[in-house]
Amino acid sequence: MNFQAISSERLPELLRAMPKTELHMHIEGSLEPELIFALAKRNNVRLNYASVQALREAYAFTDLQSFLDIYYAGASVLQQPQDFYDMAWAYFLRAKADNVVHAEIFFDPQTHTARKVAMRTVITGLYRACVDAQTKLGISSSLILCFLRHLSEDEAFDTFEEAFPFRDMFIGVGLDSSERGHPPEKFERVFKRAAQLGFKLVAHAGEEGPPAYMWSALDVLKVQRIDHGVQAIHDEALMARLAKDRVPLTVCPLSNQKLCVFPNLADHNLGQMLDRGLCVMLNSDDPAYFGGYLNDNFVQTFAALPLNASHAYQLASNSFEASFVPEAQKQAWQHQLDACFAQFGA
Ligand code: ADE
Ligand code: ZN
Repeated sequence: MNFQAISSERLPELLRAMPKTELHMHIEGSLEPELIFALAKRNNVRLNYASVQALREAYAFTDLQSFLDIYYAGASVLQQPQDFYDMAWAYFLRAKADNVVHAEIFFDPQTHTARKVAMRTVITGLYRACVDAQTKLGISSSLILCFLRHLSEDEAFDTFEEAFPFRDMFIGVGLDSSERGHPPEKFERVFKRAAQLGFKLVAHAGEEGPPAYMWSALDVLKVQRIDHGVQAIHDEALMARLAKDRVPLTVCPLSNQKLCVFPNLADHNLGQMLDRGLCVMLNSDDPAYFGGYLNDNFVQTFAALPLNASHAYQLASNSFEASFVPEAQKQAWQHQLDACFAQFGA
């Protein structure tokens, strides 16, 4: 492929047009302030903010915890299956506009069951939106149930058991929420159980936490992907392991900037990780809170870093490779990607 044929002026257009998957997006993090206010009204929920604008102005985060506090509060407006459907449908419309062909979507059931919202309400509402995304928008998707790591492993087991009647509606389990002080090994038994039952395994690690958490995500939890993983750069042996085994890292640049993991996008280590041959790709994490959906992540990150069309190709390609779909589907997307680059003269 002749990547040099694509000038830097045309790069944003290419980034937007190319097919891609999204593998790290918390559906509760796609809840826009306008929808929070609409659902609060529909469900008679009192909010601590006077207006959409006042809520948006509160989105000034200093670290992961400062974000999580406001993110969990925002989710309190979700009560009926239709609320979960509306939230997910709004995301799928954005994904369609960004040429996302496939999304693997995280949800945090414990945020809802703690408020006496039934597991059935959460999962069936989200799942119906996934079905409609396929039939009406041509986007395939699957759901990944995340355990909140600041809660106990016993609570994770209870949640997993509650979700079990809906096991055909989600494909995997993940681990999110406050990372520091909650190492992956805290959840060894529940991940082992999920693996025995045939679920895919992923975990947030190395977002704010140390490389040691990435080692235990791999060797104790036996995850197939690591969410974030940007702290791996501080551990040479870990970098070699990630490259050798092609462990996917679902990197989220705008999230990292907004949560002060890197002072600026220009300081992000995405370029270094790509140049080391790691299987990294871009994701939006919590797009309603971090100032952008997937194409915003692409365009802003490429504007801030010395990245070119060959990096764009690698990121899209990695996003197919890292997805939990059959090989034949990955190859079909790869052909679409090649056709897109050919249209741009590569
Ligand atoms: N939940 C939603 N977004 C998250 C993130 N970036 N890290 C950990 N937990 C999360
Ligand atoms: Zn995340």
